[in-house]
Amino acid sequence: MNPEYEAYCDLMRRVADVGYAGDLLQWDQEVYMPEGGGKFRARQLATLAGIRHEMGTSDELGSLLNQLKGDTALSDTAQKNIRESLRKYDEQKKYPNAFVVTMQDTVSRSFEAWQRARRANDFALFRPMLEKLVELKQEEAQLLGYEDHPYDALLNLYEPGATKKELDAMFGRIKSELVPYAKQLAGLPAPDTSFLARNYPRNHQWEFGLYLLERMHYDFTRGRQDISAHPFTTNFSPDDVRITTRIREDDFREMTWSTIHECGHALYEQGLPADMYGLPAGEFASLGIHESQSRLWENHVGRSRAFWTFHFPVLKEKFPENLGTVTSEEFFRAINAVRPSLIRTNADEVTYHLHILIRFEIECGLVNGQIRVGDLPAVWKEKYQAYLGLVVPDDAQGVLQDVHWSHGAFGYFPTYTLGSIYAAQFYTCAAEQTGGIESDMENGQTERLWHWLRAQIYAHGRTLSPGELCRQATGRTLDFSTFMKYIISKYGNVYGIS
Ligand code: CO
Repeated sequence: MNPEYEAYCDLMRRVADVGYAGDLLQWDQEVYMPEGGGKFRARQLATLAGIRHEMGTSDELGSLLNQLKGDTALSDTAQKNIRESLRKYDEQKKYPNAFVVTMQDTVSRSFEAWQRARRANDFALFRPMLEKLVELKQEEAQLLGYEDHPYDALLNLYEPGATKKELDAMFGRIKSELVPYAKQLAGLPAPDTSFLARNYPRNHQWEFGLYLLERMHYDFTRGRQDISAHPFTTNFSPDDVRITTRIREDDFREMTWSTIHECGHALYEQGLPADMYGLPAGEFASLGIHESQSRLWENHVGRSRAFWTFHFPVLKEKFPENLGTVTSEEFFRAINAVRPSLIRTNADEVTYHLHILIRFEIECGLVNGQIRVGDLPAVWKEKYQAYLGLVVPDDAQGVLQDVHWSHGAFGYFPTYTLGSIYAAQFYTCAAEQTGGIESDMENGQTERLWHWLRAQIYAHGRTLSPGELCRQATGRTLDFSTFMKYIISKYGNVYGIS
């Protein structure tokens, strides 16, 4: 094999080793670390992140990449690895050190300010730091460069190749099709959801979560489930992919659908090619594609009638007092109830995207200077009134609800909606191509769907852009219509309209 390519692989894998060591410390911090451990843990994480950054932007890596660039004697996958690594390397090199230091400092102070502001329910405490952050993000867009709109530069950090223009079109259709549809559903008699909020003992929920994970082929020899404040998935290689959940005894939904969601993320990570560890071909394609995997399992599988045809009797047996008299049809309707709400993370599958639409419009306005930070609470309230028909009572339940902006993450929110649109297209296509996915689910089987995802999505790692991956897997570019068709068919069913 090409000795330079081998040196490149070795270096990339050592960078990955350091990164994953940090991720393990992070996982521990959120799952096991005693409260007092925070101060030195932050230090250790910063040191590892610094070493990783140095290795990943070293001249050694740069010269290897430039030597290997355009070497057509390399295998197709090797050439793709080099191309993607070089793109990332060049991106990192665009940041002057002084900018990185200022950004890091501003982000950690912003996060603290945001926490204080949220506790005090007072946006004014966050405002000065957020103003500083927005300025830095505008500067960052200039540093990174863009063709059309500065927002593209920020968006591409999470979703390579995506543009504001495409998102404008997608959110335009959300505005013209999904917003009125959500309003229509809100005017119909709501399904009874009372039985989901009875007392569901913790240990029985925990066992049911493990049962679902096993049925979905989550590999416990290469992963584990734990409890944390906010559910998440993390991995240290494809052979160690961990998920967390949280349990509310008075609401069965929290544990169940967070478990299914994180399992979708985890199946993707466990399915990435292990021989490509540390290289782009062994990494997830983008945040939008990652989220498509979690939402495909959470919504298309985990909120389907077919899935619960098999699993509802098992659930009923675990909680006979709560569900003994409930039919599987009543259960299916309850878990798909649509109701406009103030908080994004509690939103249903339909109104969720109205929350993202609002954040997208605000982010674009902030980045190009059309919205001022000081006006945010008022803008927020106006948009919630317009799109969700809700009165926002205060900033804690309004503009201060999400952590993202305090982390400096602008351009991240749209990947959640992209995830759902991709999920609908992947699921629809898998069902058409393979046939029988639904009847499989009625029998508690999901292998057919899982194998399609392994071959069409997981196996490619980051060798394709999200757009290329979508075209190759489904034969079409991403199309909002497939998502909308799915929503109308499913909720027409749930609400008895057509
Ligand atoms: Co997710």
